[in-house]
Amino acid sequence: MHKKRILSGMRPTGKLHLGHLVGALDNWIKLQSEYECFFMVADWHALMSEYEDPQNLKSNIIDNVIDWLACGVSPEKCTIFIQSQVREHLELYFIFSIITPLGWLERCPTYKEQLREVKGRDLSTYGFLGYPVLQAADILLYKAQAVPVGEDQLPHLELTREIARRFNSLYKEKIFPEAEALLTKSSRLMGLDGRKMSKSYNNVIALSEDPQEIRNKIKGMFTDPQRVRRSDPGHPEKCNVHSYFSLFAPQRAQEIAQACRKAEIGCTECKKELAEIVVNFLAPIQQKRQELSQDRRKILDLLESGRQRASVIAEETIREAKKKVNLE
Ligand code: TRP
Ligand code: SF4
Repeated sequence: MHKKRILSGMRPTGKLHLGHLVGALDNWIKLQSEYECFFMVADWHALMSEYEDPQNLKSNIIDNVIDWLACGVSPEKCTIFIQSQVREHLELYFIFSIITPLGWLERCPTYKEQLREVKGRDLSTYGFLGYPVLQAADILLYKAQAVPVGEDQLPHLELTREIARRFNSLYKEKIFPEAEALLTKSSRLMGLDGRKMSKSYNNVIALSEDPQEIRNKIKGMFTDPQRVRRSDPGHPEKCNVHSYFSLFAPQRAQEIAQACRKAEIGCTECKKELAEIVVNFLAPIQQKRQELSQDRRKILDLLESGRQRASVIAEETIREAKKKVNLE
């Protein structure tokens, strides 16, 4: 039986954090044995928002790949590559740009939201409007049948299917499949302040975070707002610290919940315990990171072999697509 092919990508805009691990990477790692996986560093997509200040782009790319590997994404099982190193992404992106009605993009909810919400960057560019068209090209270049993503990406997947259908119907052959989303359960991990975990809220724990810094950050976490005094019974179900326990030490989480409800444990003590759990959880990942960082050559080699594997398929698809528009 042929394995189903999947593709996913991440934008190298900064250090990866626990949210990336719980929201995406652990899912990739689960999928890598069942599917033929392509995992891509979406550097063109990162440049779309970081073009005014791209200094860190290159170091972020390598740094993110190191995090993927340290967490357990396996270069033996998956094809790991950098989007901009496979030129066909832009070629297919351009063909799709030609056939994608402007209205589809202007109506895209993620586009409208980003224009409204993202501060400090001018995203009203021609390129940024085409963000989902490039994403469609990423996916369809490999004819991926499924795409592991979070809920926020669903509009892009819908557009990808619409673009595939439009291409197939214009040129009267089913060249591109309709890729489904493999939804990642919306990340159960909130930021340290209880809002969505995001670098721009400054509420994250990076995978590479220094242990002392982890302790400081966890010490400052919000707890059950109704528990004012140490003697007040707590509500673990309303406490962000407790949801961290559930994820990183599920068994201990039950005991903590009981003790919290009976006011047998104080929040300071509880957070201290959590801090050690998170430090220990990240220790082997950080150890692996350390080793990998020392062997840059190995990372570059693995990305080169990823590029080669990806290119074989990309070239084939582009030839097919160009033939359809009579350019081959
Ligand atoms: N847009 C995705 C994000 O911000 C990243 C991405 C780029 C992607 N190309 C992709 C995800 C292709 C899945 C498939 O998270
Ligand atoms: Fe939250 Fe722990 Fe405090 Fe209970 S004891 S409210 S679980 S931090």
